[in-house]
Amino acid sequence: MPALVLLGAQWGDEGKGKATDLLGGSVDYVVRYQGGNNAGHTVVVGDQKYALHLLPSGILSPGCTPVIGNGVVVDPSVLFSELNGLNERGVDTSKLLISGNAHIITPYNVTVDKVTERFLGKRKIGTTGRGIGPTYADKINRVGIRVQDLYDESILTQKVEAALDVKNQVLTKLYNRRAIAVDQVVEELLGYADRLAPYVADTVLVLNQALENDKVVLFEGGQGTLLDIDHGTYPFVTSSNPTAGGACTGAGVGPTKISRVIGILKAYTTRVGSGPFPTELFDADGEALRRIGGERGVTTGRDRRCGWFDAVIARYATRVNGLTDFFLTKLDVLTGWEQIPVCVAYEIDGKRVEELPYSQSDFHHAKPIYETLPGWSEDITKAKSFSDLPKNAQDYVKALEEMSGAPISAIGVGPGRDETIEINSFL
Ligand code: GDP
Ligand code: IMO
Ligand code: MG
Repeated sequence: MPALVLLGAQWGDEGKGKATDLLGGSVDYVVRYQGGNNAGHTVVVGDQKYALHLLPSGILSPGCTPVIGNGVVVDPSVLFSELNGLNERGVDTSKLLISGNAHIITPYNVTVDKVTERFLGKRKIGTTGRGIGPTYADKINRVGIRVQDLYDESILTQKVEAALDVKNQVLTKLYNRRAIAVDQVVEELLGYADRLAPYVADTVLVLNQALENDKVVLFEGGQGTLLDIDHGTYPFVTSSNPTAGGACTGAGVGPTKISRVIGILKAYTTRVGSGPFPTELFDADGEALRRIGGERGVTTGRDRRCGWFDAVIARYATRVNGLTDFFLTKLDVLTGWEQIPVCVAYEIDGKRVEELPYSQSDFHHAKPIYETLPGWSEDITKAKSFSDLPKNAQDYVKALEEMSGAPISAIGVGPGRDETIEINSFL
């Protein structure tokens, strides 16, 4: 003990990277448990800005061991280019551990992701095109390739054959694409084996032993609660479980080990890709949130859809994750609005609904019911304690806390490590 989970409470991009990096200096291990390089986490340390995709944000803290758990999908070419980029900037990445059970994103998984999206046309999910969904599909279909398979050429070849058997039929006959050659894929994958080898470990054993020895382990979620394959806005979701339970299956750690679950919550809402978003703004306020908040995707460079804070979603995140705390981010972005609307409930077919509707059709029709809170105009980026915030900003935070169902234990007032107000310590 203790093990903490840190995850996105909305649709991703809440500032998980910054929050993880902030805690990274005080924890022994930071573990990614799901997702892959669909994630884009920006971390600002002093005047240096880092964009991480696959690597846990703890990689920037020298004392911390970064771990890629069994639940993650790994694109080796992306992994190496990320490692190279960090090494060139003087970051030591030698402590990294990668589960031998993690699945590999193969080149054909990336191809299938792209052609499937094209085929869906206006019904597309708006994926990041990184092969995430098809790789998890192969895993569930039991035709996936795992990191450990790179060390047995004969098994690897048989597995790639099995995976391509059906896919090549689909690619050639349905999508009018060329078939993918087994040999080429095997050769490419084998080419990664030697460089990966020093990192490959039985991460489940390592993490459980660490917890037995009272080390502090932080599980860092990618994406967010509403992008969860089970609890999100299906089918407009990612193909893994960013919610708290995913940390147990994706890292091989029992739920009894987890003492704290921290939801990262943006002071307004954003979403990338398709799918319902009740508080989305299509006016000058939405444009201003995008501009001031720098809401552009780290992975795909797409503009993020922006809207007001949605307390229904925050309550839902508290429930499905068993959140013990919130880390409220980007409060500084709201500085300058005279009035700030906050969605407290939805109107669905003329009725007021307080909780996230269970039915997808209802959620698509949900209209936000707003309460308007008074804004502030003072610069808050230098605030170090809650009492440094102007009264209206304090009241905004208190109102969000009351509506969202868990204490707000930290507040982000800027992208930098120290632009944070700590209210309750996480450790
Ligand atoms: P993640 O995917 O959850 O790690 O979030 P992203 O990195 O994709 O997006 C969050 C963005 O907000 C990044 O550019 C961060 O540097 C930035 N950020 C994080 N916290 C704050 C904050 O409190 N204030 C401001 N202004 N920016 C923040
Ligand atoms: P971080 O970790 C925001 C979205 C995509 C798409 C859907 C499915 O930075 O918060 P996928 O490629 O995963 O199959 O795409 O999920 N998505 C994200 N949106 N932040 C992310 O990660 C995301 N990762 C995936 O835009 O709508
Ligand atoms: Mg992101």
